[in-house]
Amino acid sequence: MTRLTERPSWKALKAHAARPDATDIIGLFERDPQRAAAFSMEAGGLFLDFSKNPVSRETLALLLSLAEQASLEQQIQAMFEGRRVNTTENRPALHTALRNRSQRPVLVDGRDVMPDVRAVLERVRVFSEAIRNGEARGAAGKPFTDVVNIGIGGSDLGPLTVCEALRPFARSGPRVHFVSNVDGAHLAATLADLEAETTLFIVSSKTFTTQETMTNARSARKWLLTNLAGSYAQDDVLGRHFAAASTNLEETGRFGIKPEQVFGFWDWVGGRYSLWSAIGLPIALAVGFERFEQLLAGAHTIDEHFRTAPPEKNMPILLALIGIWHSNFLAAPSYAVLPYAQDLAWLPMHLQQLDMESNGKRIDRAGAPVDYATGPVIWGAPGTNGQHAFFQHLHQGTRVTPCDFILAARSEWDMPGHHDILLANGIAQSEALLRGRSPEEVLDEIGAQAGDDKETRRLAVHRSFPGNRPSNTIVVDRLDASAVGALIALYEHKVFVQGAIWNINSFDQWGVELGKGLAKDVLNDLHEGKAAAGHDPSTSALIERICTLRDKQ
Ligand code: F6P
Repeated sequence: MTRLTERPSWKALKAHAARPDATDIIGLFERDPQRAAAFSMEAGGLFLDFSKNPVSRETLALLLSLAEQASLEQQIQAMFEGRRVNTTENRPALHTALRNRSQRPVLVDGRDVMPDVRAVLERVRVFSEAIRNGEARGAAGKPFTDVVNIGIGGSDLGPLTVCEALRPFARSGPRVHFVSNVDGAHLAATLADLEAETTLFIVSSKTFTTQETMTNARSARKWLLTNLAGSYAQDDVLGRHFAAASTNLEETGRFGIKPEQVFGFWDWVGGRYSLWSAIGLPIALAVGFERFEQLLAGAHTIDEHFRTAPPEKNMPILLALIGIWHSNFLAAPSYAVLPYAQDLAWLPMHLQQLDMESNGKRIDRAGAPVDYATGPVIWGAPGTNGQHAFFQHLHQGTRVTPCDFILAARSEWDMPGHHDILLANGIAQSEALLRGRSPEEVLDEIGAQAGDDKETRRLAVHRSFPGNRPSNTIVVDRLDASAVGALIALYEHKVFVQGAIWNINSFDQWGVELGKGLAKDVLNDLHEGKAAAGHDPSTSALIERICTLRDKQ
């Protein structure tokens, strides 16, 4: 296969990006009065306006031919069909099967996985309803008021993001808390407000071996037993107060979790794609199983769109291609996700894992180092808070950061007057990034005449904005479960498309392993109170310093 950078479409895009007016978005609007309509689309309840990007019809055509030359459509089909697209772990990536609401079978090695998927979902339904309606109770016979999810990475961020997003619908369920960090502060501060008698723990871990999660789970078990085992049988306490979502049923049993309270999933579910599986149990507990199904249905609508829409009308593909244009041809080093919704506060973090763990790769699928940029740095925070923090950099910094603004037309909260202010700010920020403000405009605005007051003219430069800064805007009617499902699925497929074009495996994460292994050695050193041989001098000195400070009286 021809290397990506040698393909005609890549070379044509390089030349296209070298035009002097390549980033002139304002010019594109001036030349095409229909641009706003032509460069926007709807799918699965999501509206995407991508007109505020330096993308013309010609740019799009070139990007689409880049996708075609990467056999994108065949790659999409391969993922949906359960082929082993995760080539370094020899597994399919079938998060789409978890939310397959159709009757279509999904075959892995000739076997339909859908009956197993439906069986686990049914168990999640029964369990979550029993907890929510108070039928399932703790050892003291009391209903559960609080649920603590113990997990990290995808076993935390996915369900946490959705639970936060759907807060307005969580009023009748138990309170759901998330503990991820091995820093004892996280678990201790969470437990400080809880009663053992009415607390249920879910240990969420695909592998059930993750150091942080297992450390937190063992401490939670100790806390529970310390508080309850004096009055109730240990087996009963563990049996009632612990559940698990995992693929490692042997380890969940060894930990003491009853098989009836273990919700399984499969190796073809990647950690960062697992919120649709049993890892979504906290979501069903927080907002009810019906809403969890609406979440799955929203994602499925985008799956169907992604699977069937032609590339030029395919929202995840367009979003991905625009991202590639920015990062590979216009040298944008990062990408900001800016939800104008406090309920989506965790979305940037979830997308950070999704994107950076999937596409932070430097070796292609054939094992050769790539000679082009892959996944960008993903970051962001909810509006309007970001406006008072890092937006200065977006508007006037030397680096151009493409942004996604995410807006919900209607609020779920009864707080008169707030939502219009929120929306106005979100819309105005994308307008300001595009429009900019020249020094002359600044002078006009402050009423100064040419040649007037030197100080005013000096300041006008500082108060001007270059404009032509790119953004997408995604609008949903309201942030309900279906919209949240659709939104996350949109980004999952965007990441897939980019990985497919960059010819990398988006479904492994070997880059997290080295540090995990070294941490075990350092932990030994900390237990021994001194650095063992073999570290670099800086690391040895740090270990020694920490030991000295830690052991000081
Ligand atoms: O260390 C990275 C990672 O493997 C992520 O991919 C995953 O989401 C997270 O750790 C948690 O893993 P597990 O669910 O097996 O505990």
